[in-house]
Amino acid sequence: MLLTTAIDYTNGSPHIGHAYEKVLADVIARYQRLCGRPVYFLTGVDQHGQKVEQTASKEGVSPEAYVEKVTARFTALWEKIGVHYDGWAATTDPRHKACVQKILTDLKEKGQLYKKAYNGFYSVRQEQFLTDRDRDAEGNFGAEWGEVVEIQEENWYFKLSEHTEWLVDFLEKSDVILPQFRKAELVNALARNGGIDLCISRPKERLRWGIEFPFDADYVTYVWFDALINYISFVGYGNLDPSLPDFAATWEKVVHVIGKDIMVPAHGIYWYCMLHAMGFRNEEMPTLLVHGWWNIRGEKMSKTLGNVVDPDQLADTFGVDALRYYLCRDISTGKDSDFDLDRLVMLFNTELANELGNLCNRALNMSQKFTSGVLHCYLPLEEEDLGLQHSLVESLNLYREAMDAYDISKGLEALNRHVVNCNIYAERMKPWEMNKDPEKKQRVATVLYHLAESVAHCAVMLSPVLPDAAAKLAAQIDLPGLLDRKIDELAWGLVPNDHVIQKPSPVFPRIVPATPPDA
Ligand code: ME8
Ligand code: MG
Repeated sequence: MLLTTAIDYTNGSPHIGHAYEKVLADVIARYQRLCGRPVYFLTGVDQHGQKVEQTASKEGVSPEAYVEKVTARFTALWEKIGVHYDGWAATTDPRHKACVQKILTDLKEKGQLYKKAYNGFYSVRQEQFLTDRDRDAEGNFGAEWGEVVEIQEENWYFKLSEHTEWLVDFLEKSDVILPQFRKAELVNALARNGGIDLCISRPKERLRWGIEFPFDADYVTYVWFDALINYISFVGYGNLDPSLPDFAATWEKVVHVIGKDIMVPAHGIYWYCMLHAMGFRNEEMPTLLVHGWWNIRGEKMSKTLGNVVDPDQLADTFGVDALRYYLCRDISTGKDSDFDLDRLVMLFNTELANELGNLCNRALNMSQKFTSGVLHCYLPLEEEDLGLQHSLVESLNLYREAMDAYDISKGLEALNRHVVNCNIYAERMKPWEMNKDPEKKQRVATVLYHLAESVAHCAVMLSPVLPDAAAKLAAQIDLPGLLDRKIDELAWGLVPNDHVIQKPSPVFPRIVPATPPDA
């Protein structure tokens, strides 16, 4: 599987939306590997374009220096929050430039590009030309376009319109848009877009910060055309560079994780048409996994509103586990969610500190106290034991179903359900009471075995989302290679009889929210 994310604009600091998308993709990559499926995970940064050029000039530095500084903030954040990628796509990379230029040359040779004069309106903020369809009911270009200027210039165009008929037909027959409800949105947009070609150049008088046209040195490449190509340039398309992966082997089961704002028109229309023009076949077309947005108190997060949430600061304040858990747990893939710090703290404290953390602590503590750390499952089992084993099977099935459908929140919910059942089982069995009765020593051991065995499974299920915490749980259970197991190998009995476990040390210390100064 080739798994990619959008490449983030380097015109500011990473925000919570960026962090969400990278964590989502990281979790998917780790889960796929847990299933034994090889994954190549590509992410990176989108460094060209007018916005970057303008911000750099405002700051009085060169665009090169500016993007270098901003890119470092992204790479440091991914390192900090455990986003582990295999390939790094930075669009100023010479290997990417060479690939974009080769594609431009190939498309020109195929008769897919032409030059034409244009007179019309241009949105500086969105870096795109506007048509009458972009006007509002009053006939004006709305505030979302920012500054709109009238320009007249010659540019290079890609014959997008030659591919839209194919695209409509292809979308109808396929399931490349996830979640499915987004497909209608794309098909409607296509119906509106028919007949329009895509302007893919910018004259250097207006923009210098881009990839030069190989056959027309007065122009640079439109930032979206440049950026979309990252998905193939960094996995060896065209065999241009031996340091990159083998394209034929890597371009397989491709999933692009993107936000809902960049499905139309960039990925859903431009990218599919570009690939089609390059000669990609239907079965080689990527899937778009379109996620929703994090809003702030129902409002869009924006610099203007001053409500941008900084993931770096959150990781410092609440820890990486709490941040990753929240970003996976409190949003359903494809839908929007409201970012809420109280919920971040509450979900960590209830589901991790109180439920899973408590389960692990009590199982290991009591084992140390009552059975000297030795786990043993004695027969016959009681109905309650079988009930707990059944709960695990059910949770694992639900977990796999949800995770296979990229629904991480539901997967965690399934995991949590079993943890809750374990704690209920412990409360009912009361091994601390039973232990007072010398005749019940074997029952005590069996109950503790059931709890510890559950923790082992939970560590594996948690590992895509919280790899470090899972490793700590696994270390306490002390089963060598526990986290190297594939999901198919999860079955009751991971813990062999007479296995000795470690002493517990808390993995999820409760977050004590700082008291607000006015409280
Ligand atoms: O669009 N919640 O870059 P970008 C969730 N460079 N996701 C969000 C979000 C939010 N509040 N805000 C942004 C670009 N995103 C282009 C992509 S790909 C060839 C080029 C998501 O930095 C957004 O939907 O504006 C996108 O998928 C990603 O963050 C990068 O956004
Ligand atoms: Mg954006």
